Amino acid sequence: MKILLLGKNGQVGWELQRSLAPLGEVVALSSKSADFRGDLTDLDGLAETVRAVRPDVIVNAAAHTAVDKAESEADLARTVNALAPEVLAVEAGRLGALLVHYSTDYVFDGSGDHARSEAAETGPLSVYGKTKLEGEQRIAATGCNHLIFRTSWVFAARGGNFAKTMLRLGAEREVLNVINDQIGAPTGADLIADVSAHAIRRFIPELAGVYHLVAAGETSWYDYARLALETARERGQPLKLTQINPIATSAYPTPARRPLNSRLDTSRLREAFGLSLPQWEAGVRRMLDETLPPAVSKT
Ligand SMILES: NC(=O)c1ccc[n+]([C@@H]2O[C@H](COP(=O)([O-])OP(=O)(O)OC[C@H]3O[C@@H](n4cnc5c(N)ncnc54)[C@H](OP(=O)(O)O)[C@@H]3O)[C@@H](O)[C@H]2O)c1
Repeated sequence: MKILLLGKNGQVGWELQRSLAPLGEVVALSSKSADFRGDLTDLDGLAETVRAVRPDVIVNAAAHTAVDKAESEADLARTVNALAPEVLAVEAGRLGALLVHYSTDYVFDGSGDHARSEAAETGPLSVYGKTKLEGEQRIAATGCNHLIFRTSWVFAARGGNFAKTMLRLGAEREVLNVINDQIGAPTGADLIADVSAHAIRRFIPELAGVYHLVAAGETSWYDYARLALETARERGQPLKLTQINPIATSAYPTPARRPLNSRLDTSRLREAFGLSLPQWEAGVRRMLDETLPPAVSKT
C-alpha cells in the first residue's frame, strides 16, 4: 500500500508518520517539502503531487488551525480547509484511492448539552468552523472513497498544547482564570492516528463517510487545567499557583466564537470499526508523563 500524507509535522501528522508506517510506503510531505509539493495553497501543485505519487490512500492532516487568526484570513483558511481537500478528493476519485481527512466539533453551534451524532444539524460559529464544514461537503460531493474524522481539543506530547501552557502559567503566576463553560473531550493526536491506521486497514466503500473521533468522557477547560496542574504537583514540579478560578467564556472575549457544547457521540465509529475509545484523562496523563521531568524522590 502506498500512502500520501500531507501536514506531516502537525500534531496529528507527526503521530500518523508513526501509525501509518506498518501499512506500507508513506510519502510524507509538509508545506515546505521540496521533492513533491505539499503546500495546500498551491492547488495545481497539490493535484500534480497526487498524480505523480499515485497513492492508494491520501491522508490529509494539514489544515489552517489558527482559529482566531482565521477570522482575519478567511480566504487563506478557505483555500487550505475547503478548496485543497476538494482537490485531494477529486484526485483520489480519479485514482480510486481512499481519502482520509480530519474535521472538527466547530462545525456545530454548540447549543444544548447533548452529545451530537454525525447526522446532527451543523451551524459553525467561526470562519474556521465554516471552512472546515465546507471542506467536508466538497469532499463528499466528489463521491470519492473517504473517511472524515471530526475530532476536538487535540493535544500531543510534541509541540505546545493547552496543558503545557497551563503548567507554564502555573509556574509563573499565583492566580489563573480558566474557562469552565465549554465542555468537550481532550483527544490525543496519538489516538487519532492509531484509529486512522486501523480504519484504513478495515476500510470498505460501504464504510465511507463522516465519523466522530474523540476520547471518552467529557470535561471543561477548567477541570482539564486542574488535572494537569495536580499531576504536575504530584510529580514535584515547582508551581507558584495558589488559586485557579473558573470563568465564563463571555469573560474571555476572542476574535472567533467557540461552541460551548463540544460533546460528540462516537457510537458510529466504535460500531463500524469495532473500536473502544479510552477516557480522555488516560491520554492527558500519558502525555504529561512523556513531557514532565521525572518525579522528585522524597526519600
Ligand atoms: N488542534 C485541535 O484542537 C483540533 C480540533 C479539532 C479538529 N482538528 C483538526 O485535526 C486536524 C489536525 O490538526 P492538528 O491539531 O494536528 O493541527 P496542527 O498541529 O495545527 O497542524 C496543522 C498542520 O497543517 C500544516 N499546514 C498549515 N497550512 C498549510 C499549508 N498551506 N500547506 C501544507 N500544510 C499546511 C501545518 O504546517 P506548518 O506548521 O508548516 O504551517 C501543520 O503541520 C486538522 O484537520 C484540524 O482541523 C484539530
